[in-house]
Amino acid sequence: MRIAFVGKGGSGKTTLAALFTRYLAESDRPVLAVDADINQHLGIALGLDDGDLPLPLAAGSGWLKQHLRGDNPRIPAADEMIKTTPPGRGSRLPDLGPADEVLARHTVPVLGSGRLMVTGEFDAEDIGVSCYHAKTGAVELYLNHLLDGAGEYVVVDMTAGADAFASGLFTRFDLTVLVSEPTRRGVGVYRQYQANAAGHRVALRVLGNKIAEPADLDYLRAELGPALLGALGQSGWVRSAERGTPRPLAELEPANRAALDAVLAELDATERDWVAYHRDTVEFHRRNARAWANQAAGRDLTEQIDPEFVPGPSVAVG
Ligand SMILES: Nc1ncnc2c1ncn2[C@@H]1O[C@H](COP(=O)(O)OP(=O)(O)O)[C@@H](O)[C@H]1O
Ligand SMILES: [Mg+2]
Repeated sequence: MRIAFVGKGGSGKTTLAALFTRYLAESDRPVLAVDADINQHLGIALGLDDGDLPLPLAAGSGWLKQHLRGDNPRIPAADEMIKTTPPGRGSRLPDLGPADEVLARHTVPVLGSGRLMVTGEFDAEDIGVSCYHAKTGAVELYLNHLLDGAGEYVVVDMTAGADAFASGLFTRFDLTVLVSEPTRRGVGVYRQYQANAAGHRVALRVLGNKIAEPADLDYLRAELGPALLGALGQSGWVRSAERGTPRPLAELEPANRAALDAVLAELDATERDWVAYHRDTVEFHRRNARAWANQAAGRDLTEQIDPEFVPGPSVAVG
């Protein structure tokens, strides 16, 4: 199950992505936290030092492409893969199990049952065909191939605002949580996100943050109705963690914990439709092929699409 935290810069995406990761790890749930923001702060928020961070996913993209390609006959060379290249028969489909090679190479353990992955930068030579949003492209490519199941969690800290729409990445989640302060700007960012995502299969909900008084919550309720999942207040627990002295999660303020419970309940209630999911993978690949990639590669990259293939739990992991 995959959850993305999106919203305005400074609203609390990183803080809440880290808090939700801690919350899952506290109950020993397997959780992969992914820092896909341009400003990479999730590792710090999870209590790691800069020197503890994993090899960025995008830095090893030559390896990632080679790995994911497997022996898919429609993709003769790794450098023909772009961020939207869909998996097909022969592709390697990573999972969240202990033997997975992507996790071994590109993550570090955090908080017991957690792992951290960071995007980093693509090297020009790794890209193969040039791509403006190449950095989050590595995450998109990874998620397009990832076989994650119920009871396994991927928590993604996303870039602020409309950047999320530079690729198909915004459609790769079972739940998208937009973090909003109780302000017109916060709610405006939600409405913008909702408008951009319209017509795509995106389960979008709002998590209020930095609630200081009852009128704040009243405001979000009135503006958002059922789209509001819950809300967190200004948290002494969070501030203590920010100072580098996280307290046990059991000491998190009960109202804030209730907001996390609501997020988990919503996420666990989702069920992925792998057929529709993969249809979107293919659709975004067609768009990218037409818009820029065919020209850059000098050939028709829609030939990479395997019409017989749908990923999902029934596919053997190669
Ligand atoms: N519920 C909260 N209680 C206290 N401080 C918070 C809370 N949420 C966010 N913050 C603080 O607000 C600032 C911005 O949060 P951050 O998670 O970095 O935002 P974003 O990732 O959306 O840019 C940080 O200093 C963070 O500690
Ligand atoms: Mg952030």
